[in-house]
Amino acid sequence: MEIPRRRFCFCVLTLFVIVFLSPTTVEAMIRHYKFNVVMTNTTKLCSSKPIVTVNGKFPGPTIVAREGDTILIKVVNHVNYNVSIHWHGIRQLRTGWADGPAYITQCPIQPGQNYLHNFTLTGQRGTLWWHAHILWLRATVHGAIVILPKLGVPYPFPKPYKEKTIVLGEWWKSDVEELVNEASKIGTAPMASDAHTINGHSGSIPNCPSQSSYGLPVRAGKTYMLRIINAALNEELFFKIAGHVLTVVEVDAVYTKPYKTDTVYIAPGQTTNVLLTANANAGSNYMVAATTFTDAHIPYDNVTATATLHYIGHTSTVSASKKTVLASLPPQNATWVATKFTRSLRSLNSHEYPARVPTTVDHSLFFTVGLGANPCPSCSNGVRLVAGINNVTFTMPKTALLQAHFFNISGVFTDDFPAKPANPYDYTAPVKLGVNAATMKGTKLYRLPYNATVQVVLQNTAMIVPDNHPFHLHGFNFFEVGRGLGNFNPEKDPKMFNLVDPVERNTVGVPAGGWTAIRFIADNPGVWFMHCHLELHTTWGLKMAFVVDNGHGPDQSLLPPPADLPKC
Ligand code: C2O
Repeated sequence: MEIPRRRFCFCVLTLFVIVFLSPTTVEAMIRHYKFNVVMTNTTKLCSSKPIVTVNGKFPGPTIVAREGDTILIKVVNHVNYNVSIHWHGIRQLRTGWADGPAYITQCPIQPGQNYLHNFTLTGQRGTLWWHAHILWLRATVHGAIVILPKLGVPYPFPKPYKEKTIVLGEWWKSDVEELVNEASKIGTAPMASDAHTINGHSGSIPNCPSQSSYGLPVRAGKTYMLRIINAALNEELFFKIAGHVLTVVEVDAVYTKPYKTDTVYIAPGQTTNVLLTANANAGSNYMVAATTFTDAHIPYDNVTATATLHYIGHTSTVSASKKTVLASLPPQNATWVATKFTRSLRSLNSHEYPARVPTTVDHSLFFTVGLGANPCPSCSNGVRLVAGINNVTFTMPKTALLQAHFFNISGVFTDDFPAKPANPYDYTAPVKLGVNAATMKGTKLYRLPYNATVQVVLQNTAMIVPDNHPFHLHGFNFFEVGRGLGNFNPEKDPKMFNLVDPVERNTVGVPAGGWTAIRFIADNPGVWFMHCHLELHTTWGLKMAFVVDNGHGPDQSLLPPPADLPKC
């Protein structure tokens, strides 16, 4: 049968329109990755202990994709630990099964087993990262996720000449899991790490002077984008490059108004993209440094990681002979530097990238976050250090919460997480003798209907010791609408909230002796973990989860689990 010519032309034209002009058909790709979790021998930091890595790399492989792409990552567990991997900051719309936190959205991948994570990058572009989400394995099991804008969509700033990923980490010479086990037996904290790392290198450090450093080559006059990730377990960091100003343009994969600074403050879990113009004297080298920020009086790692920025191209001198300009680092308790940085961040809030801040609140929650101590006869001092939200120390379940929710398995969790503390007190006052620091235990969740608007005021407490808590929420971005020192005042403080261009992110610092208010829309059905991203505090119970019910619309339900979902 012959096709009439007119209809033929029409068909060809339609095909052309579909294939070449429709953005989703043309751009969206399926990207395959294979993550082999293996033991890897290393001589880094004068230590010969094998470490757990993905594909033998530290930091692990970078995932590079575009907004709209679908990612298929097969994780194969070749080690003797249970493993699970979380794609930190990926929204996982309706695909909570791929989120990764062990016993929250899935049972861990047991030795010899594997699991295919399948998710789509919807409405996000920027720097995120992935890490192990069980035990303390993320010390060495982590890497970058780079989500480029859709093809043909520019950055809202001049295109950088080149982009580099800077992964900041924390290193223990000894076996981390052994240290954690020993500490938990006696109810205390394991010792602080031995060094920090910049892309896997510490630079020369005491007791280990031959350590290699990371080199950052630049060409004079060019502008680079650094995608900085704090993958450390327990340390907030200052990051600095001598002789150069950095312009922040994005945090946690959301564009910000450009903010110029000489010091970046970054908490575990956070990512920060900065522009760096190589406009210093090309005849020198420049120190790149990452050092701890802490305002708590607890042991911390005070070894600064160093790397070197050097100029290539225009000079003939070899870099070794050049003098190195040192970075003047803020003191490690420079709260004012961290505060200034945090308070300066604003959403870009442009026509293309609007800040959709919820202006009404359906669920107003007040969460105290801090430490506690429970009686423990076999522990040193007779107490076990714990942590909790509204005095609840979260107990990890034996069945994954998302399965319990989806299949209606009773007895795994309760949905009675307290919306506010049962017994209000002066949260930030120095702890008086005789105050009861004990917490209750439970696997308690807070239930939210689909699309509810939520405000959480995270109130830091002075219990035991006040400390900054970088809080991370899975499954959502939130807006940081306010922060302050002392106790949150529900009458006065909301009047000062920024509902226009607050920073939007997935991990926010709750300042020691103060509070942070966040808002989000519960538009993602499933079970979503919220916890302090200091691994020590997560271990001690500074965590809870939201269960978000399905909506009634066509795309408002959690999808069914994949067939290979790991079993407990
Ligand atoms: Cu980056 Cu639940 O963590």
